[in-house]
Amino acid sequence: MFNIILFGPPGSGKGTQSEKLIAAYGLKHLSTGDLLRSEIANKTPLGIEAKTIMDKGQLVPDEVVVGMISSALENNPHAKGFLFDGFPRTTAQSEALDKLLKLKNAEIGVVLAMDVSEEELVKRLLNRGLTSGRSDDTNEEVIRARIKEYQEKTTVVANYYGQFNKVVHLKGEGTVEEIFSSLCSEIDKRMSN
Ligand code: AP5
Repeated sequence: MFNIILFGPPGSGKGTQSEKLIAAYGLKHLSTGDLLRSEIANKTPLGIEAKTIMDKGQLVPDEVVVGMISSALENNPHAKGFLFDGFPRTTAQSEALDKLLKLKNAEIGVVLAMDVSEEELVKRLLNRGLTSGRSDDTNEEVIRARIKEYQEKTTVVANYYGQFNKVVHLKGEGTVEEIFSSLCSEIDKRMSN
C-alpha cells in the first residue's frame, strides 16, 4: 500500500492534481474539504456546525476530521493506497493519521508539498469564486484568513513529516501538466524503492 499526502496552502492545486494522480495510480482520494462540503450539502448537524467555521476561513476541530478519515479508512479496506488532500492540517491530525495507518500495517510514503506565492493563491481563489459556489472563495478577507490559518497551524505538518525525511517541496506554479509531471516523477522514485 502506497499512501501520499498532497500538501500545500489553499488554492495551491491539491484538488486539481489529486484528480489526475488518482487516475494515474489507482489510489483512493480522501479530501476532508470534500467530505465536509458533502455534510453541508446534506444539512447534517456536523455540516451545519462546520459551515460556520469554514465560512470564517478557520479550521474545523481535529476530532471531527480525524473521525471522518477514520471512517473512510474503515470503509475502504481493499484500497491500493490513499491520496490525502487537505489532511492532515495540524500536528495532532498527523499523529492521529499515523496511528490509524499503523493499524493497517501501513504508513505515509511521501508528502508532496506544492509551493505557491500568496498573491497567486488569492488570484486563483477569487477567480474560482466567480463560478464555484464555494462561499469561502468569494471574499478576499476570508481567503487571506484561510492562508493565515495555514501559515499558523498547518505548515508544522511539513516539519512533522520532515523528521522522517518524507517531505518533498515542488514548485506549484506553472501549467497543470508541468506540475503533474514533477509530482509523478517524485512518486515513481519512491514507489520503486
Ligand atoms: P479544502 O477544501 O481542503 O480547501 P483548501 O485547502 O482551502 O484548498 P482549495 O480546495 O481551496 O484549493 P486546492 O489546493 O485544492 O486547489 P485547487 O486544485 O482547488 O478546505 C476548505 C475548508 O474546510 C478549510 O478552510 C477548513 O475550514 C475545512 N477543512 C478541510 N480540511 C480540514 C482539516 N483537515 N482540518 C480542519 N479543517 C479542515 O485549485 C484552486 C484554483 O486554482 C482552481 O480554480 C484551479 O482550477 C486553479 N489552479 C489549479 N492549478 C493551477 C495552476 N497550475 N495554474 C493556475 N491555476 C490553477
